[in-house]
Amino acid sequence: MAEKKGIILSGIRPTGRLHYGNYFGAIKSFIELQEGDNICYYFIADYHALTTITEREDFYQQTIDMLRTYVACGLDPEKSVIYRQSDLPCTAELTLLLGMITNIGFLARGTTYKDKMGKLEEAPGGVEGNPLSYGLLGYPVLMAADILIVRANKVPVGDDQRQHLEMAIDIAQRFNSRFGETLTVPEGMPRNALRLPGLDGSAKMGKSENNTLDLLDDAKTVLRKIKAVETTTDPEPLNTDSDDPDDVIPRMPNSVGALYRLLNLLAPEEVYRDFVGKYRRGEKFYGTLKTTLAEHVSAFNAPIIEKYNDPGNSQKTVEDFLRENAKRVTPVALETVEAVRQAIGIGHSLYRA
Ligand code: TRP
Repeated sequence: MAEKKGIILSGIRPTGRLHYGNYFGAIKSFIELQEGDNICYYFIADYHALTTITEREDFYQQTIDMLRTYVACGLDPEKSVIYRQSDLPCTAELTLLLGMITNIGFLARGTTYKDKMGKLEEAPGGVEGNPLSYGLLGYPVLMAADILIVRANKVPVGDDQRQHLEMAIDIAQRFNSRFGETLTVPEGMPRNALRLPGLDGSAKMGKSENNTLDLLDDAKTVLRKIKAVETTTDPEPLNTDSDDPDDVIPRMPNSVGALYRLLNLLAPEEVYRDFVGKYRRGEKFYGTLKTTLAEHVSAFNAPIIEKYNDPGNSQKTVEDFLRENAKRVTPVALETVEAVRQAIGIGHSLYRA
């Protein structure tokens, strides 16, 4: 008998352009997972993004462009079910139902919520124009609904989302113990993820930190960004014979380490080792390191840019597959919502548009 397929689900907030931190932290593992013997659901969490966005004007367009970038990177709408969260509005219904049985005390322990509370206490005028909303408090309930609605049993998330996943597991378990086994309790899944440092040498590459290398950057932009990375300090002795990036890179100044990390990911092993050797010997090499790295980055970006602009990946094509995929998930999702309605006691919907 064929092995039972796992159901994998993960959501990504639409943040506009995608950078290398997104790629090596999430997209790469999503692409690998879609090759396995699992059903993969990947969605753009546009409802979730409403808790933080300030610019709504381009929001729809940004979501579509981001999906075009995903497809250009190799996420395949034939292999994975890729959809937009808000195209599955029964998620909102499940959120409401789960919200009726979720304690405020439990939600108020969420770190995202607590962080924002803390910031508001420091700056009572508001945080980045967004109020401390009901939606932010309920963020983990919405996330639980995303997961539970398709009966996902494996959820690859990064460290920053682990607590939210734990909360989803908790919500599902409580539901089942109170109303009978209705929901599939999900599990976390180690994600083959790497936290990339920013080009400014800070610990994390992030859009709001403005220190990113983007997947759609053209060769000129790549070179400009890489040349601007600070490499003023002369190499210090490495005090290790190993070339292992996890051993070597922490011994370098942060911004230089960021260059080596990228080189290790993108260039052939011998090129990386060669530059570690130059560092070890204290040669003058930062100029060539930067141009070499820029070439590898541009070579990595070129096919992505080409595929992004391919007529087969147009706005219309993306909208078409989103529509088709929303149709594919909806029956699965409605079945869950109906089962939850039944278990909670309000009974099946007598009319569903
Ligand atoms: N909250 C996640 C993030 O900010 C995105 C997300 C929404 C998600 N729903 C999800 C991730 C369900 C995994 C499963 O990155």
